[in-house]
Amino acid sequence: TALQYFGKPLRVKTKSARLGIVTDADIACQNRIKEIISSSFPDDLFFAEEDKQNPKPRGRVWVIDPIDGTNNFSRGIPFFCVSIAFWEGNIKSGVVHVPALGYTFTSEKGKGAFFNGKKMHVSGVSRLKDGFADIGMPRREGIREKGFKIFSKIYPKGTGFKHFGTAALQLSFVAVGWLDAYLEFGLYPWDVAAGILVLQESGGKVTDDKGKGLDFFKNDFLIVASNGKVHSELLEALK
Ligand code: IPD
Ligand code: CA
Repeated sequence: TALQYFGKPLRVKTKSARLGIVTDADIACQNRIKEIISSSFPDDLFFAEEDKQNPKPRGRVWVIDPIDGTNNFSRGIPFFCVSIAFWEGNIKSGVVHVPALGYTFTSEKGKGAFFNGKKMHVSGVSRLKDGFADIGMPRREGIREKGFKIFSKIYPKGTGFKHFGTAALQLSFVAVGWLDAYLEFGLYPWDVAAGILVLQESGGKVTDDKGKGLDFFKNDFLIVASNGKVHSELLEALK
């Protein structure tokens, strides 16, 4: 569905200063994803970006971002993805699909993670100065400074810097070994749920800024994601 809209003129609306933009494609994709899931699991709950209100997570929940990287999508940049996680107390499975590039990252708890069907692993880089970190720089007022502060703590460690503008994909890029670390403040559950499992199942690590397990259903978390080997260096730099 996303590709039917990609590269064509779009209706782009601002949802709010906090939630950013939405296009017709986001809505169409979300409706289609829900339709497909509901046809097999009619009683399951959805926690989805384009819903006005989301339930308190309980039981069986599908955490959905129909298009992660809507800004990229709306400018014709192919770095956007569909992110779907299945949660039941914790994330049981996650898929991140990049329609424009034909990339699919899949994961199932305890069963590993796969890039287009091939088992994948994080990189072997063990020092930030030898690798690449992606540091999200939030756009919205009120937290821009926070992004800059994180950047100013990590970048001086000598890391190369890249930024792809789509959280689920950035997590997947760490998982497949193309990046070594990814940090961002101010994300939402649907941005990270699937990517977290993809990365963990590839041998990577995801925590909050104190090194604790990340509660991604709460507001305003800082996600610290890495190949595991540079994780303590990241946490030390953030202190
Ligand atoms: C956004 C992307 C982006 C991040 C934003 C997110 P969306 O998701 O993941 O990289 O910086 O904070 O909201 O709105 O394109 O689904
Ligand atoms: Ca989105």
